[in-house]
Amino acid sequence: EKDGYPSFMEKEIHDQPAAVGDTLLGRLDENGSLTLDEIKIDEAVLRSIDKIVVIACGTAAYAGQVARYAIEHWCRIPTEVELAHEFRYRDPIVNEKTLVVAVSQSGETMDTLMAVRHAQEQGAKVVAICNTNGSTIPREADAVLYTHAGPEIAVASTKAFLAQITAAYLLGLYLAQLRGNKYKDEIASLLTELEAMPAKIQRVLDEVEPQVKELASGMKDAGSVLFLGRHVGFPVAMEGALKLKEIAYIHAEGFAAGELKHGPIALIDQGQPVIVIVPSPNGRDSLHAKVVSNIQEIRARGAETIVIAEEGDEAVREFANHVLHVPAAPTLLQPLLATVPLQIFACELAGAKGYDVDQPRNLAKSVTVE
Ligand code: M6R
Repeated sequence: EKDGYPSFMEKEIHDQPAAVGDTLLGRLDENGSLTLDEIKIDEAVLRSIDKIVVIACGTAAYAGQVARYAIEHWCRIPTEVELAHEFRYRDPIVNEKTLVVAVSQSGETMDTLMAVRHAQEQGAKVVAICNTNGSTIPREADAVLYTHAGPEIAVASTKAFLAQITAAYLLGLYLAQLRGNKYKDEIASLLTELEAMPAKIQRVLDEVEPQVKELASGMKDAGSVLFLGRHVGFPVAMEGALKLKEIAYIHAEGFAAGELKHGPIALIDQGQPVIVIVPSPNGRDSLHAKVVSNIQEIRARGAETIVIAEEGDEAVREFANHVLHVPAAPTLLQPLLATVPLQIFACELAGAKGYDVDQPRNLAKSVTVE
């Protein structure tokens, strides 16, 4: 069932174009709008929502963080993301006007389930984004938006992450559509862009994978790897670090690039590998220029910089030891592409160290205890 791949993780990384494509399937209309029949929550209730709280653990929580940037921008609804195990014990302010989005691949994570129950007790409606049909969290939620990634066997989550982000985009765009949002034109064009993502992910696999594998095989002895990102690149950086910790047992940390000067830059010395996720040069604001200047700063202090940038972005080359180019996409959709090299990197490094990438030590696929 590994389809000829050496591990489930590698197979699942390659399943990602299909995971994203299948999650979009049947949900986009030909006339540039969205149909999410499964969101069986009264439209009047959805229109009255004044806050969204995403609850999840681990990788699913990073998907939630990506969702937050998208949902806040498209829907103008204040959105928080909270680790499920923290949410429950914080006495959170949640009521009938709160929409809770519970993200879970397995649908069985105990902390997330308990957080769902807690939110419902306060009157909140819960939408589950889940990959496992009929599991507990979708059964208890008020509505469920399934991700169609197919069964994920490897402990380290890969295709479920991309599918969760895709489902969260759909939810965000659906709410924006429902609430008659001012970003109407942007929404229609984003739906077209979303449909183009599976082919772009396939291109990352075809074109970037060999480069990442070569890079990773030379980094077996790295004692620590840092990941930097801004905006949606920040959760991507944290996800890249989590993958490396989980399966390659290498100390890794993901930072918001803007935090560098507030502490982490002290960690940079000669030869420290740093993977930087660079936003599109055509994106909003001055995100791109700021990250390029961060690369400059760490390079000047001796970091070995591995840069993930958009195709055609040559501004980064001067300060990068290695550049990995991914296809262009709107900034908010970039995580679907930028994450893939990080997954391959962790998988390859763990393999090179001789570890079982599918069954890392001390970890279980789903955490069904508190
Ligand atoms: O099944 P869930 O999505 O609720 O699981 C949440 C986390 O336990 C999970 O994402 C974990 O962090 C993965 N091992 C990450 O690769």
